[in-house]
Amino acid sequence: MANMNRQLRLHSRPKGLCAPGDLQLAESPVPELQDGQALAKVKYLSIDPTMRVWMTDIPQYMPPVAIGEVMRAFGFAEVVESRHKDFKKGDRVVGLVGFQDFALIDENAKNSRFQKVPSIPFVSDTAFLGVLGMNGLTAFFGMEIGAPKKGETLVVSAAAGATGSIAGQIGKIHGCRVVGIAGSDEKCEWITKELGFDAAVNYKHADWKKHLAEATPKGIDINFENVGGEVMQEVLSRMNLFGRVVLCGLISGYCSHDPGMASFGNVLVRRLRVQGFIVIDFASRFMEAATEIGKWKMFGKIKDREMIVEGLEKAPDAINMLFEGANIGKLIVKV
Ligand SMILES: NC(=O)c1ccc[n+]([C@@H]2O[C@H](COP(=O)([O-])OP(=O)(O)OC[C@H]3O[C@@H](n4cnc5c(N)ncnc54)[C@H](OP(=O)(O)O)[C@@H]3O)[C@@H](O)[C@H]2O)c1
Repeated sequence: MANMNRQLRLHSRPKGLCAPGDLQLAESPVPELQDGQALAKVKYLSIDPTMRVWMTDIPQYMPPVAIGEVMRAFGFAEVVESRHKDFKKGDRVVGLVGFQDFALIDENAKNSRFQKVPSIPFVSDTAFLGVLGMNGLTAFFGMEIGAPKKGETLVVSAAAGATGSIAGQIGKIHGCRVVGIAGSDEKCEWITKELGFDAAVNYKHADWKKHLAEATPKGIDINFENVGGEVMQEVLSRMNLFGRVVLCGLISGYCSHDPGMASFGNVLVRRLRVQGFIVIDFASRFMEAATEIGKWKMFGKIKDREMIVEGLEKAPDAINMLFEGANIGKLIVKV
């Protein structure tokens, strides 16, 4: 086993996109295990928009990553050595592994939460980071908040991304008319032709607002919001009375520290119910949701797609890819 651990540590808080040097590569010896600890080899890193928020020091749902700390990241790892009663060599786990080669699982550490995942025929390891992981769960619980009814119109933003693509397909399972908003014609084609969305709008086209109006002739009942800002503002202006807004993310503001909020005039006059949520609120129901999503996937009702970037050193560029719209589906780094 290698005796050095490569780590990407936060050196400076980015302004805008991550710049070279904001995360710096360092090496330290692989830790010697104490009782109650296990060592896991990190195989895959989940690349998530929230990482860009973790790199800031604004108030958020978890403590910001401190300067000098290993960059926080969710990922998939395999236990290679153990003195921990709950984990043995060969166990496959997901959890906050960090941008590094080896993660320490420590029963005494407050934030060391790792979950074993099964080996299922025809299910890739990376699925536990996307469709069967945080993104699938986020889509599932977000759509539960949206309370879809047959025949209603659902609009999903960042619709060709890891979360939006699943949320839209759950909307189809519930019998909604589903319209996705995404940043390229290729993405729009994927969600309509492959995933079964009823319509897609490329928000980078000059007349996208007109396209959105044409795609939502009966107005919008549910907004699964991933973007915020101008996209959300336009969707809110087309909401029907007593519609529901599932506030999942506001990615358009993450690099500029702008809350990405739309004006709330439409929320008032249309009597909308707006609910923000963080997927970890539903931790006690993760197994139930993953089982349901797994069934949908098995029966072909949900399709997913992954984009895999090779190499730990590419992880900072991968974070930027999310904000440049360079990913389709779930973005993952193979360590
Ligand atoms: N509440 C929760 O617990 C929770 C959990 C997971 C994720 N989220 C949120 O869900 C959203 C999607 O996350 P994800 O992990 O599934 O990422 P993702 O959608 O796979 O990737 C992000 C996508 O956002 C779009 N985007 C980036 N900047 C944009 C901008 N300025 N305006 C419009 N679109 C922009 C890009 O697609 P285009 O090409 O379409 O622009 C990009 O591909 C994020 O807001 C994230 O914070 C929330």
